[in-house]
Amino acid sequence: MTERSQFTSLLEWYRQEARDLPWRHSRDPYTILVSEIMLQQTRVETVIPFYHSFLDRFPSLTALARAPLEDVYEAWAGLGYYRRAKNLQRAAQAIAQRGSFPNQISDLLQLPGVGEYTAAALASIAFQQPAVALDGNALRVLCRIFGLRSAAQATLTRRQLNRLTLPHIPVGSASDFTQAVMELGARLCLPRQPHCLACPMQSQCLAHRQGLTQQIPPPGLARPRQRVELLALRIWHGHQILLERREEDPFLTQQWVTPWFFAPAQHRLQQYQRSFAGHSLQYVGRIRHAVTFRDLEVDIWEWHTDQPCHLSHQKFVEWLPGQTRLPRLASKVINAAPCQTNPR
Ligand code: ADE
Repeated sequence: MTERSQFTSLLEWYRQEARDLPWRHSRDPYTILVSEIMLQQTRVETVIPFYHSFLDRFPSLTALARAPLEDVYEAWAGLGYYRRAKNLQRAAQAIAQRGSFPNQISDLLQLPGVGEYTAAALASIAFQQPAVALDGNALRVLCRIFGLRSAAQATLTRRQLNRLTLPHIPVGSASDFTQAVMELGARLCLPRQPHCLACPMQSQCLAHRQGLTQQIPPPGLARPRQRVELLALRIWHGHQILLERREEDPFLTQQWVTPWFFAPAQHRLQQYQRSFAGHSLQYVGRIRHAVTFRDLEVDIWEWHTDQPCHLSHQKFVEWLPGQTRLPRLASKVINAAPCQTNPR
């Protein structure tokens, strides 16, 4: 009989209770790479339809490596953090050139867009290598299980968690182990109100035994959210709306969106009013949009122009709601219903 480790009950729970997620049916490192890149900073429910449509369009590593970048961006439209799309294709190209999928953490870390967390997730999920994938959820789960209270240094905590966790990863079950920790973090070991009574790790969890789940992990480990104000423009010409391509934006690289700027940006607003002269300016309203660590508050202004002149990175497109797939914030800006309060 195999020995029961401190984590056996977690693995048993995972094998019985895990959500049926599409990437969990695959052993193909390429599809696991696609899922892990998509899951960076994005929720499981959001990723699932994109995962299917992306793999329908690029069913193999070579199909993705050879595709025009524009097509990759198109398949990513709506998922956010568009730099991931470019990095994913560059990773596929690097692997195709190398001739085999790397299975060691040090080689995985060389791939564009693959940091420590994703390298450990790939090594364990795709190749059963013992590796501890520490994203925010895993950090919380493992800090609680091992009762780590000190947030003195986040890197020290990571190193300590690695050291404490590695010996518990059963040979041949690294994939289940990594995903079991993720599953526990997503379903039971929640940040504020963990469901300890339903938790398979209840009797082993030091935080629970010591009544410290509210104190662990300490706040220093979580990245604080940032509130950011933006000013967005809807410039209409008939039923067409102005979109522009964000060339250098780290989250929306090369995506077509409505113009927007960090507030205050009155000078940018005036610049656009000069370039696209027309009817008077109207305040549409404020919308909120949450992205990983940021809460965006977006004031929307609009007007109709008689001068649909544009530059190479700008275009007017016919806007029929639901017809064009745009990044989510751009769709929200375009669909926002007018309100009456003017913030000025
Ligand atoms: N988040 C990151 N990777 C994941 C995975 N493989 N399953 C569920 N959630 C995840």
